[in-house]
Amino acid sequence: MCAPCWARGGGVAGLSEAPRPPRPGPPLWLLAELTYRCPLHCAFCYNPLRYAQRREELSTAQWVDVLRQARELGAAQLGFSGGEPLLREDLEDLVAQAHRLGYYTNLLTSGVGLTEARAAALHRAGLDHVQLSFQDSTREMNDFLSHTRTFDLKRRVAAIIKAQGWPMVMNCVLHRHNLPHVAQIIDMALELGAEYLELANTQYYGWALHNRAQLMPTAEQLRQAEAVVNDYRARIGQRCRLLFVVPDYFEQRPKACMNGWGSVFLSIAPDGRAMPCHNAGELPGLTLPDVRHTPLRDIWYDSPAFNAYRGEAWMRPPCQGCEERHKDFGGCRCQAFALTGNPAATDPVCSRSPQHEDVVRLVRQAPQQRETQPLVFRSDAVSRKA
Ligand code: SF4
Ligand code: FES
Repeated sequence: MCAPCWARGGGVAGLSEAPRPPRPGPPLWLLAELTYRCPLHCAFCYNPLRYAQRREELSTAQWVDVLRQARELGAAQLGFSGGEPLLREDLEDLVAQAHRLGYYTNLLTSGVGLTEARAAALHRAGLDHVQLSFQDSTREMNDFLSHTRTFDLKRRVAAIIKAQGWPMVMNCVLHRHNLPHVAQIIDMALELGAEYLELANTQYYGWALHNRAQLMPTAEQLRQAEAVVNDYRARIGQRCRLLFVVPDYFEQRPKACMNGWGSVFLSIAPDGRAMPCHNAGELPGLTLPDVRHTPLRDIWYDSPAFNAYRGEAWMRPPCQGCEERHKDFGGCRCQAFALTGNPAATDPVCSRSPQHEDVVRLVRQAPQQRETQPLVFRSDAVSRKA
């Protein structure tokens, strides 16, 4: 079913008539997407394609109020992300408030803007943890994929992070352009002193979905990269923990996205829309509640958006009644929508989905599609027209 048909055809209306899902526990993870502004232009950015059509940002006072409310609900882990969160001049204030409230805070950054002075101020404010993204182990590929000259800067920022004594997660999104460099990426992480390296095979949302054919690796590239990772794991032990995020489209079972919709994860968009995942704004038929108008407690427990795919009442066959539904919660709603046009469908990554063959075909056809679908870098101009 196509998306407009599904939305019109009663999917969402049906959901509101479905039995109420069980009352969830509190949100444990809060993702504060402070801004969609970013100095980089990554071709795999997970921000929405149309981010530039939503320029509004919460004020400092509004963010502080969100942090307070979420903490009262039970949130304990807080990620400051974007875009580039360092573009917010009030980041130090927000970190200080979060620290006072008792959060464990994490900054997810490209590194652009993290000077020694700013790092020291963030450290004084109580920042606990930094995740620094690289695009590759080579200057050429890093700068090509981000469409900026940032490789050398990122290496300097890694040293700044270490000098402050923060645990450092290095993150690198993997795809067909850099999978052959996995060994060099791990070597770079070891050289720069990262405690964790997240090798994140591309998840196809936002700009990555737009560039899917250009980013899609081969099964052989993935097999070789995973063998390299396992070899390093055996050799380096705990010196640097290597996380290899599974390549969705090559699996037989979907990921347990967000650990289940509205289960533990709460994301706030720059303009104050509250979302059960950072892509939920793309789903049809959902009215996302706004923290400027609705208390967070009501949003989390009672809003139709957060209850839409909670529990199991929304599931249809083959998820309905499947013995694995408590493990993966039927997969990812945003991926189901991207691949089938229906967010309530079984995630087609699952081999039990009637649409699983479409995923296999997408992987197979990627090389031909590349000939007509050039790589598009994230930019305001493209976003405004999308
Ligand atoms: Fe998971 Fe649904 Fe597949 Fe069962 S049918 S394994 S619940 S995605
Ligand atoms: Fe939205 Fe998975 S990214 S539910």
